[in-house]
Amino acid sequence: MKITNTRNELQDLLLEKRVGFVPTMGALHDGHLDLVRASKSRGLFTVVSIFVNPTQFNDPIDFEKYPVNRERDLAMLESVNCDMVLIPSVTEVYAEGLNEDRFKHDFGFIALDYEGAHRPGHFEGVGRIVNILFEFVKPQVAFFGEKDFQQLAVVRKMNDMLALNIEIVGVPTRREQSGLAMSSRNEWLSQKQLKKATKIYESLVWAKENFREKSNAEILASIKARFVEDEEWSLEYFDLINPLSFQSVGLEKPTDVRAVIAAKLGEVRLLDNLKIA
Ligand code: PAF
Repeated sequence: MKITNTRNELQDLLLEKRVGFVPTMGALHDGHLDLVRASKSRGLFTVVSIFVNPTQFNDPIDFEKYPVNRERDLAMLESVNCDMVLIPSVTEVYAEGLNEDRFKHDFGFIALDYEGAHRPGHFEGVGRIVNILFEFVKPQVAFFGEKDFQQLAVVRKMNDMLALNIEIVGVPTRREQSGLAMSSRNEWLSQKQLKKATKIYESLVWAKENFREKSNAEILASIKARFVEDEEWSLEYFDLINPLSFQSVGLEKPTDVRAVIAAKLGEVRLLDNLKIA
């Protein structure tokens, strides 16, 4: 596995290769490895980037305390035969400055609600870094986890808007046995909180099981009530949405519906989603 820190060396090494790209912020878990496995299983030369991107954190404390464990990350990537790892510095990535306008995109209504509303500037930062990394790596295929479902929609939209012609692949969320979606932030949960955190997936499954029998208003009210019971929880949003437009389905019962949820358990923000219909 080759490790590089610069765009120039990376591009020399990637000449003539069919590249599958997995952007990450490190603190890897099995969900990230699934993205690498998906790329490798297509016979692609697989490049993983590890870069904790300052421009996508709306909360500077969240950025400061983002878990970093490079040795562990590299060992995990070796274990799935990743071909190359790019670990650039902030100056390598943002050579033209953190706010260069060329990488500023307006994703319209798909980025306005949910994560867009609760983390102002987040998708602007994600669009910026993914665009820059795409320019660095020039992949044919790029892999993103479905756990960040709105991010996946934003990346697809950017790919279309800029006619980048990259195949964007969404990879299903990897879950713990309890149902909890794997996330780098789970590292911050205590044993007790890890047990409590299953409420998120249980709520999504309940919404799916009851989608045809109950009205959408009943479903939303029931899920909200579950999070009020315990004051360690603070529910940021739960909704039933159209997965393409990221608009709420309101009272309707269309054929393609996704439930999206974000809640804080103590200081840890958890995010998940599930196909409902
Ligand atoms: O999903 C993430 O880890 C990040 O948002 C990404 C796509 C690597 C951009 O920094």
